[in-house]
Amino acid sequence: MHLAPRFNHKCLQTMADSNVRWAFNTRKWFPTLEELVKCITYIQLEEKNRIGRFFFREDFESSLIGRLMMRKYVSEVTNLPYNEIFFKRDERGKPILEDPMFQHIKFNVSHQGDYVVLAGSTELEALGVDVMKMEYKGGKELSEFFRIMNRQFTSNEWQTINQGTDEYKIKMFARHWCLKESYVKATGVGLNLNLLRMNFEIKQKTLCRNEIVNDTVLYVDGEKVNWEFHEMLLDDNHCAAVAMAGSNTSKVKFRELEIDELIGNGLPLLHEDIDYCKTYFEKKKKS
Ligand SMILES: CC(C)(COP(=O)(O)OP(=O)(O)OC[C@H]1O[C@@H](n2cnc3c(N)ncnc32)[C@H](O)[C@@H]1OP(=O)(O)O)[C@@H](O)C(=O)NCCC(=O)NCCS
Repeated sequence: MHLAPRFNHKCLQTMADSNVRWAFNTRKWFPTLEELVKCITYIQLEEKNRIGRFFFREDFESSLIGRLMMRKYVSEVTNLPYNEIFFKRDERGKPILEDPMFQHIKFNVSHQGDYVVLAGSTELEALGVDVMKMEYKGGKELSEFFRIMNRQFTSNEWQTINQGTDEYKIKMFARHWCLKESYVKATGVGLNLNLLRMNFEIKQKTLCRNEIVNDTVLYVDGEKVNWEFHEMLLDDNHCAAVAMAGSNTSKVKFRELEIDELIGNGLPLLHEDIDYCKTYFEKKKKS
């Protein structure tokens, strides 16, 4: 029997690190077979099966890291060992904790470009995160791409995006996209929400590393909503946005994690599976 203390809601209210922002750069990670075998023992079987079906290495890696981040976060705020934490997905596919007692533990993962990010809090009503690589590799002219994407943003948002150089436009496009996704991921409205009902008003035109911009405002159906959005750059090419509803919206910067922080303290859920992990090394890389 494991003697880890069961969750105590009152304790969590005072835990300083329950409000976290983590980032993992998968470009810097070159897993060995041994490391990968260890990682895979810390995820649930259905996730192992899902991740194993990815065609590309990058998708395998980022989904895996996201699952490990979730487990580390929940383990830290509950004091439960890795193998006593169980996730399920809600009807829209959003990972949540199985135990109804833990529903106040909010976390969300995003992966795109070189990064996987997690935002977590035990004090918010809702939380969503999104990360975007600020690049355009579509092949078409940028104006043609924007024409196709027309219905993703309001005319006010397009005005903010469509200014200055192409580089600026791509950055603004990514920022707006991130903001919308972070909100959609927090509210769980999924694809049912008409994105044109949301209008983001960005005041500070540039983002920085190590500094959080929090004065972006969202209007839904013309009404300003009582949400806070925190945006920052993870590096020169990646922006992240966190959407938050609730009272404790204190500014927390993203911290880059190393693989050992994700698997160092784990207790395995699954047996080691070397054959499964060998398939990772046979997968194609996107780039
Ligand atoms: C489901 C959805 C929210 C996922 O977002 P995404 O940008 O494709 O992917 P992200 O990397 O940001 O997030 C993926 C992670 O979010 C989590 N997630 C999955 N479904 C989710 C949901 N419905 N809500 C919140 N989080 C979800 C999972 O941890 C997932 O990781 P996994 O794929 O390894 O399981 C998205 O596809 C969606 O429905 N978007 C609709 C809104 C839209 O069209 N936005 C355009 C922006 S302008």
